[in-house]
Amino acid sequence: MKDIFDECYLGDLKLKSRIVRTGTWETETEDGGFLTPAVFERYKKMASSGVGAIVSEIFALDHKDRFFPYSTSLNYKGFIKDYKMITGIAHEYDVPILGQLAFFYYDDGENQKVEANEITPEGIRKLQAEVIMAAKKFLFAGFDGIQINMGNNFYLARFMNPYFNQREDKYGGNTENRVRISSEIIKVIKSTMDMHVSCRINPWDVRKGGITADESIAIARELEKAGADSIQLTARTISQIYDKGEKHPFLVYVDDLIDAVDIPVILGGSLREMAKINDVLNNSKVELVSMSKPFVAQADFLADWKENGEGVAICQSCNNCYSKKTSTCFKYVE
Ligand SMILES: Cc1cc2nc3c(=O)[nH]c(=O)nc-3n(C[C@H](O)[C@H](O)[C@H](O)COP(=O)(O)O)c2cc1C
Repeated sequence: MKDIFDECYLGDLKLKSRIVRTGTWETETEDGGFLTPAVFERYKKMASSGVGAIVSEIFALDHKDRFFPYSTSLNYKGFIKDYKMITGIAHEYDVPILGQLAFFYYDDGENQKVEANEITPEGIRKLQAEVIMAAKKFLFAGFDGIQINMGNNFYLARFMNPYFNQREDKYGGNTENRVRISSEIIKVIKSTMDMHVSCRINPWDVRKGGITADESIAIARELEKAGADSIQLTARTISQIYDKGEKHPFLVYVDDLIDAVDIPVILGGSLREMAKINDVLNNSKVELVSMSKPFVAQADFLADWKENGEGVAICQSCNNCYSKKTSTCFKYVE
């Protein structure tokens, strides 16, 4: 029997539980450009309460490439100072922590919003070099690894999607070619830095001519071949599809993915009850699950679950915390 509080591994990283606090923007900087005490407090609560691993909030390469105005970039003034402290808090409680990178736009020097079909080979080299430098920056700030968000509708997700990418060179065409921009990045990071590389990908794309579930599995295999250490699932129309049904929508696909790769796969989205999560763990091949909003509503809820042997997150999946300046739960303000 699997249980959410089993010790387990995410690649080489040892985890105290099967729960990953997944990417959640929470940038609350004071006027001087440094994180507020509330963010440090939140990390302390998460790390001390039994979470297996933490994925940071999303960082863009550059401020203007951010997904939405309240998220941040690696160039914010306090990054190294703040995140040496944040990673220090996680490590004090033996919790591995990954820095998440995702950019929605990319500026190749000529075009601030260059898309997959337009970017030149030199632009691709520039982009790859910047992602590799971002990994180095995460490592310097004390992170155990990087999670590159190639899911949702972020730049690298669009690049690997045939709906957007009709290139005729080696970065377009078949799956291997559309994933090549990311595979080459992973190869360099893995051969030059001692860090976990996690890839967040979509299980499919609802657009006509977009990625199918079969192709998503082929993408995961390409990423694994390049050296990726783990895969996390996400989806573009995330909350709408997660929050509707009783059964997790990715369950129809996740076992096939897990069979196809030899690296850990993290399943997430709308998981709220310990019993239901254990049910997923014991009725599928899933070993690791992720949660985001439950930690927004109550950062240390896992301590209660562990003590009581059961529990339901107070988060109601209302999504009111989404796209707000401080990712605050307005129902249960701490
Ligand atoms: C306030 C908020 C902030 C989020 N920030 C990020 C982020 O920084 N990076 C990311 O990949 N996803 C982000 N997401 C999506 C979550 O990681 C997650 O995939 C989604 O909320 C579904 O999981 P949940 O039901 O456990 O919350 C965010 C979601 C919310 C509600």
